[in-house]
Amino acid sequence: MKHRLAERTKVIGMTKIEESLRIIEQHPDIISLGAGEPDFPAPPNVIKSAEKFLERGYTHYSPLQGRLELREELVKKLKKDNGIHANPDEIIVTCGSKEAILLTVLSLVNPKEEVVIPDPGYIAYRPIVELIGGIAKSLPLREEDGFEVHPEILKKSITRKTKLIIINTPSNPTGTVLSKKILEEVADIAIDKNLMIMSDEAYEKLIYDNSKHVSIGSLNGMQDRVITIQSFSKTYAMCGFRVGYAVANTDLIKEMKEFKICTTLAAPTFAQLAAVEALKNSSNYTKMMLKQYDRRRKLIVKRLNEIPRMSCTVPKGAFYAFPNIKNYKMSSDKFSDFLLKKAKVVGIPGTEFGKYGEGYIRFSYVTAYKRLVEALNRIENSLRKL
Ligand SMILES: Cc1ncc(COP(=O)(O)O)c(C=O)c1O
Repeated sequence: MKHRLAERTKVIGMTKIEESLRIIEQHPDIISLGAGEPDFPAPPNVIKSAEKFLERGYTHYSPLQGRLELREELVKKLKKDNGIHANPDEIIVTCGSKEAILLTVLSLVNPKEEVVIPDPGYIAYRPIVELIGGIAKSLPLREEDGFEVHPEILKKSITRKTKLIIINTPSNPTGTVLSKKILEEVADIAIDKNLMIMSDEAYEKLIYDNSKHVSIGSLNGMQDRVITIQSFSKTYAMCGFRVGYAVANTDLIKEMKEFKICTTLAAPTFAQLAAVEALKNSSNYTKMMLKQYDRRRKLIVKRLNEIPRMSCTVPKGAFYAFPNIKNYKMSSDKFSDFLLKKAKVVGIPGTEFGKYGEGYIRFSYVTAYKRLVEALNRIENSLRKL
């Protein structure tokens, strides 16, 4: 039977990421550098805590806005780590930060209004904006600027219809960490044009070298204008627990809370309680993961830069490398197909992250060191034969 589907089903097509997942399942000899989640399990104390709460009967719904003990712990964390002074009413706990992004856009954007999104940028922004009838306007991020936001380009992307600017630091897919100076310029633009900013900080703890994560919501006068989005997924390898949150002014949080009735109602209760344990007692686990990622990051950047015709800027955050492959005179899509076929390695074409991702490919390094070495050997060998 042919279903008469809604028009909005056309907004979201099959992504290359899903396609690769399907191929990897069928071919165990393929090495995936496509994943977007830690290869580490959740910290043992977090798992124990989840078990304990499940055994104690915490199997019911939680309040729409999230459990108070978690929001109270987040108040302390936001103050200490991010310089954001919020109270529990200004926080909503969500099913992963992905839901927080959806609730933000639902609460702020009318059909036909514009949202500036980073390009290349996280794959979910465009479909979420378009699903609700908004217009996603690409903000080109250029390699020559280290994939930072260029304030003049940002100004040009803003029109009378713009409502919201989305920024993401550290960035998926480029690994760029936005500097305080750039964030201050973005903040000035938002104030000048009377716009809101959604700051996606899902990778805030995955920062290398001497870089520093700055939350734009902590800058002077920005607290009411910024929705800060953070997550337990990457910091504590808790992707499957589905706990994220948004921090914003109480009026906005109230609206987001109302939309929760139509989305997930609440994040899983036991997972929220285990998240409290993560905040209190798992920072060493994050440090352990970060050390491993850093070792792999150094390896991948060095090896990619040794391959003729490829160049890779040094990512300062997250767990992705985003090399330039323009000298191969192949589209990103073709390049990724080539690697899959000849090297048996999955990389995600830059165009999956927006049209300005053309000429790049994303490799994640959430893969054991030895396997990463093998993947890089295969990539290099296949490209040297070209
Ligand atoms: C930039 C960015 N934001 C948000 C998310 C959503 O993560 P979660 O919903 O698990 O918190 C991801 C996941 O890959 C991401 O890369």
